[in-house]
Amino acid sequence: MPNRSLPGKMIDQRGFSARETEVWSSHMIRSGEIAEAIGMLSQGPAGRDGRREALVAHPSSQEPGIGLSPGIAVAFGVLLPGETTRPRRHNASSFTMALSGTAKVEVGDRSFDVTARDSWNTPGMRVETLTNTGPEPFTYVSYSNAPLLQKLEVFYEEFDPAVGDKAVAESEVATSFSTKIARAKEAAGGPVDVGESGAMLLPYEHLIDPDFVESHALLWRWEDLADHLGLVRSLTTGYTGRPLWCLYNPATGTRNGTTFSFFATMTAAGPNFTGPAHKHVSAAINYILDGSGYSIVDGVRLDWEAGDIMLSAPGWAPHGHATKGEGAVILTIQDHPLHIGMESLIWQEDIKGGPILTLGSQAGFETNLAEIREASDA
Ligand SMILES: [Fe+2]
Repeated sequence: MPNRSLPGKMIDQRGFSARETEVWSSHMIRSGEIAEAIGMLSQGPAGRDGRREALVAHPSSQEPGIGLSPGIAVAFGVLLPGETTRPRRHNASSFTMALSGTAKVEVGDRSFDVTARDSWNTPGMRVETLTNTGPEPFTYVSYSNAPLLQKLEVFYEEFDPAVGDKAVAESEVATSFSTKIARAKEAAGGPVDVGESGAMLLPYEHLIDPDFVESHALLWRWEDLADHLGLVRSLTTGYTGRPLWCLYNPATGTRNGTTFSFFATMTAAGPNFTGPAHKHVSAAINYILDGSGYSIVDGVRLDWEAGDIMLSAPGWAPHGHATKGEGAVILTIQDHPLHIGMESLIWQEDIKGGPILTLGSQAGFETNLAEIREASDA
C-alpha cells in the first residue's frame, strides 16, 4: 500500500474508494427489560440532575453520543412521588411521552399537566422541569438529538439557569428593542445579485440576526390524538402509504417535524396490515404501545408486542412492518426533518428498482389514497 500521508497530515485520496457505510443492525429492547430498568432506577438517590433516567445503548453505539441510532438518544425515566427535576436547558431538542403516573411539565413559559401517553416537545435552550404530581411513580420515554451534538463536540448544557432565563430575557429585550429602531441588517441592506446563476451576496448582519420562527413547547394530549386514530386505522392492506398521523409542530414548516430534528408519528394499524418494503436514510425507532406484529429489517424477522422498543429502520436498511391479528398502535421517531435540513433525505418507496428521491428537495412519492377514498365513496 502506498504511503498516503502528505504534509500537514493531509491524506492522498487518489486510488482509494470511499469508506463503505456500515449500516447498524436492528435492535430490540423488550418491555420486561424496560420495566426491570425502571425498577432499578427507582432505587437509591436521583442523579445530579434530579432525574432517574437510563439511556438505551445500541451495541454499535460509541461515545461521544450514546444512542439507539447514531443520532437519536432514547431515555426511559422515572420520577418518584414528590420528586422534581433540576431546571435544565441544553441545545438539544427533544420529544417526550408520558407512560404512567401524572406530572407537571414546565418548558420555558409553558406548563402542562400530563398523564399516560400525553406527549410534548422541548425546543433547544428552553428550561425544562418535570414534577411528579401524583401518588404513583411518573414514567416517561424521551428522544433527543443530543448524540449528534455530542459527536460534533458542541453539546451545551446548564442547570438551574437564573430565574427568568437571563439569556432568554435578554433576547426578548433585543426583540422588542429592534422594533423601535432600525435593525442593523436593515441598515446593511438585503441580498445582492451576483451574476446570472442566482448566486447572491449577504451582509454579515444577516448571519448574526437571521429571520427566525418562534418555537414553543406543544402538547399532544392522548385523548385529543386518540379521537383521530380511527381514520387511519380504517386503511387496510393495499393502501400504499402508512396508516399514521404525524404529530406536527408548525414551527418546523416544510420539514414536517415534531422537533427540528425528529418527527413523531402515531400509527394505528388494523389487523394483519402489511406495509410495503422500503428504505430511507432517516433512522426509525418504533415503540409499541398496543398490539403486536413483526418487521423484516435487512432480511431479519423481528416479532414485537406492546411495550417493546426497537431500532426498526437503521438508516438505509430495507424494512417493512406488518401487524398480527389485533392490529397495533406504534409511536415512531425518525430523524427525517434533520435530513431535510441537510438536503440528505434520500428515500426509496419501492426497493425493487423504484426511484431514489431526495425528499424535501424535489417532488416526492404518491400513494393510492385518492383511489381508495373514491372507491369507498362509490
Ligand atoms: Fe420506513
